[in-house]
Amino acid sequence: MFKKYILSENLPKHIGIIMDGNGRWATKRGLPRNLGHKAGIDAVVKTIDALIKFKIKAVTFFAFSTENWKRSEQEINGIFNLLRDYLAKNQNDFFEKGVKITSIGDLTEFPQDLVDQLEDIRKKTKNNDKLIVNFALNYGGKDDIVHAVNKLLKEGKNQITDKDISDNLYTNFLPDPDFVIRTSGEQRVSNFMIYQMAYSELYFPKVLWPDFNEKHLYEALKNFQKRDRRFGGIK
Ligand code: IPE
Ligand code: IPE
Ligand code: MG
Repeated sequence: MFKKYILSENLPKHIGIIMDGNGRWATKRGLPRNLGHKAGIDAVVKTIDALIKFKIKAVTFFAFSTENWKRSEQEINGIFNLLRDYLAKNQNDFFEKGVKITSIGDLTEFPQDLVDQLEDIRKKTKNNDKLIVNFALNYGGKDDIVHAVNKLLKEGKNQITDKDISDNLYTNFLPDPDFVIRTSGEQRVSNFMIYQMAYSELYFPKVLWPDFNEKHLYEALKNFQKRDRRFGGIK
C-alpha cells in the first residue's frame, strides 16, 4: 500500500476542498452528470479516511454553492438524493472513525428532511473528535458575510470589527482554512470562504474530483509544507 508519511508538524489546521470536476469526469465516460456526483461522494469517503490517516483535524467540503441553483432541477435533486443516501449509510462509519459532522450555508432553502437529517447527525456526532467534516451547502462566501453583518445590525451594532464579523460567519466554530484545494484545474474560488481565505494557501491540482485519492492528498500536503507563509512580515 501507500507507505509515504507526512511530517506531523506544519499540517494545515483546516482544509477547504472545492470539489470540482464531477460533471467532466462523467461526460468523459459518456455517463450522465449525476453519476459523476455519485463517484464524487465515493471520493469524499476515501478522502475522509486519508485525512484521518494524515492527522488533519478539520475539513470543509464545498458540496453545493449559492450559484449551483442555476443547474437543472434533475441535477440538483440528484445531488440532494446522493447527500441523503450518504448521510444515512455512513452513520456507523462516522462513529467508528470519530468523525464529527457539521454544515455551513443557508439551509432555509434546502429540503426540510435533509435539514433535519443533518441536524440529527450533527447532534449525534458532536462529541467525536478525530476529524470535523464540515459540508458547505447552499453556501456562498458573499452570503456568509451579508448574513453575518445582518446579524450584527439586528444586535444594534453601528460599528463592527474583524472579530465581530469572524464570530458571526457560519464558520465561527472553525479556524480559517489555511489550505484550500480546488480540483479539476480551474483556478478560481467560486465564492467559497472569501473572507476566511484572506491568507489561505491555494492549490489547484488537475485531477478531477472523483479521481482524487490518498496520493493526491499526500502531494497536496507536501506542497503545503513547502510554502513560506509570511503573513505580510519578513522572515
Ligand atoms: C462539482 O463538480 C460538484 C458540484 C458543483 C456540485 P461539477 O458538477 O461542477 O463538475 P464540472 O465542473 O461540471 O466538471
Ligand atoms: C464550485 O464549483 C462549487 C462547488 C464545488 C460546490 P462550480 O463548478 O459550481 O464552480 P464554477 O461554476 O466553475 O465557478
Ligand atoms: Mg464545476
